[in-house]
Amino acid sequence: MIGEFLVEMRNISKSFFGIKVNNKINFTLRKGEIQALLGENGAGKTTLMNMLTGVYFPDEGDTFFKGKKMVLNFPGDALSMGIGMVHQRFSLVGNLTVFENLILGHPKNKFIINVAVEKILIQKYMKQFDFHINLDAIVDELPIGIRQKVEILKMLVREVDVLIVDEPTTVLTKQEADNLMQILRNIANSGKGIIFITHKMSEVFQVANSITVLRKGEKIATVNKEETTPNELARMMVGKEHNTTFNLPKTKKIPEILKIENLFVNSNNGVLAVKNLSFNVAGGEILSIAGVTGNGQIELADALTGNRKVGSGNIKFKNRDITQHSPKKRIDEGISYIPGDRINVGVAGNRSVWENLIMKVYRLPKFKKGLLLNNVKLKKYAEKIIQKYDIMMPGINLPALLLSGGNLQKLIIGREIERDCDLYICVYPTRGLDVGATEFVRNSILNLRNKGKAIILISGDFDEIFGLSDRIAVMCEGKFTGLFNNGDYSLEQIGLMMSGQEIENLEN
Ligand SMILES: Nc1ncnc2c1ncn2[C@@H]1O[C@H](COP(=O)(O)OP(=O)(O)OP(=O)(O)O)[C@@H](O)[C@H]1O
Ligand SMILES: [Mg+2]
Repeated sequence: MIGEFLVEMRNISKSFFGIKVNNKINFTLRKGEIQALLGENGAGKTTLMNMLTGVYFPDEGDTFFKGKKMVLNFPGDALSMGIGMVHQRFSLVGNLTVFENLILGHPKNKFIINVAVEKILIQKYMKQFDFHINLDAIVDELPIGIRQKVEILKMLVREVDVLIVDEPTTVLTKQEADNLMQILRNIANSGKGIIFITHKMSEVFQVANSITVLRKGEKIATVNKEETTPNELARMMVGKEHNTTFNLPKTKKIPEILKIENLFVNSNNGVLAVKNLSFNVAGGEILSIAGVTGNGQIELADALTGNRKVGSGNIKFKNRDITQHSPKKRIDEGISYIPGDRINVGVAGNRSVWENLIMKVYRLPKFKKGLLLNNVKLKKYAEKIIQKYDIMMPGINLPALLLSGGNLQKLIIGREIERDCDLYICVYPTRGLDVGATEFVRNSILNLRNKGKAIILISGDFDEIFGLSDRIAVMCEGKFTGLFNNGDYSLEQIGLMMSGQEIENLEN
């Protein structure tokens, strides 16, 4: 049942460096309501929510919470009033347990904590909303889907009335996402209000009651789910409709750009993560690696890029053994990496947007002026990528960390694709991107293939895998349970391989 107003934001505006990223926005949320907040990368979704939670102050406009004007003086004020947000970038402390994270910073726990009582209380919430989490587990050792739930549970324990979740499903598998949405439904049914930011239209229709669409800092509309369609929402977001079909033209394969022989790689905690893998990737082909997250894909990618030591085995790139080469050497040799972890691996967050864009090419002779760097030329190079990849932000001197989630991803993709490499290792390249940007990035990857580049695509998105791959490998517990041409096996069969069934044991 949808009840009275919890939140009313009236006429809210915000500018950064003279650029309006929220312009006179009106936004309301009621009890029991799940409202989706939709919009392209950089539309202003996270910024609007950051004002509701007191991270930023609006330049104009007022916010009312349960009918009263909100006055926020300190970070944390919104949370103690009952508005909590789970951010695009998680905020848990990795080396503490779930329980410690849940009670950490809880205003109620300033003095003495009665562990037994607190645990009983937390169990109560878990039962009410159908969470299954081991409170004594170390957060770093948990799969990302569970960590996400811990973040949400943390807000529930603080008894928020309004829960904001900013793209919570980007890092989840389909099952995990479905489960999370069921939990969001339970939470809303208990009378709380939820603001759900997502780029996935199917999720909007699965779980939301109403939808607000932002475009370039303007509110376009708020509509009830029953009264709209995915096409209409897409039109509102971008001003036009998108159609995503790809064709893979035949390419001339350049044999063995990458050759892996009997590769063994350990994970962080010393367990074998990659177990005796051997495979090749040719120029002009995309080899996708599908699998449930945490089955060795990231360790494999890290080993190929030199960011993780190889236990034993060989990596040959263009017929040269590069197993012992440093990450820097591999970059110069022509291996490109689009990592899954944008913030920690993808960029130097405190450095400017333009410095991040040139950081892998500035040593090239064409960017030198005598012994010095040709900054004019470098900035031009950066600006060209910004335009081509439509990276939206207030200025090229902005620290990369302040880009919107999707624009940060575009920065990395643009930087990597514009370098002329022979091998591209792309890990979840379209995570967090809006529909238009996703299509653009997928086409860019296809173009690389058509130009004869070798591509490894680690992805969890089957539209992407089936749409782009020449061959598909399925990884489970550090091994390939299947390696075959795209089209040879169905999604269902791939699902079985993902859960450990070897390809030979499948009936085709
Ligand atoms: N602290 C800041 N300083 C300067 N600019 C900022 C800051 N925070 C956000 N911006 C800019 O405001 C704009 C809107 O960003 P916001 O994060 O709200 O977008 P978003 O709709 O959440 O996009 P995404 O889907 O990519 O996460 C972007 O251009 C971003 O670079
Ligand atoms: Mg955002």
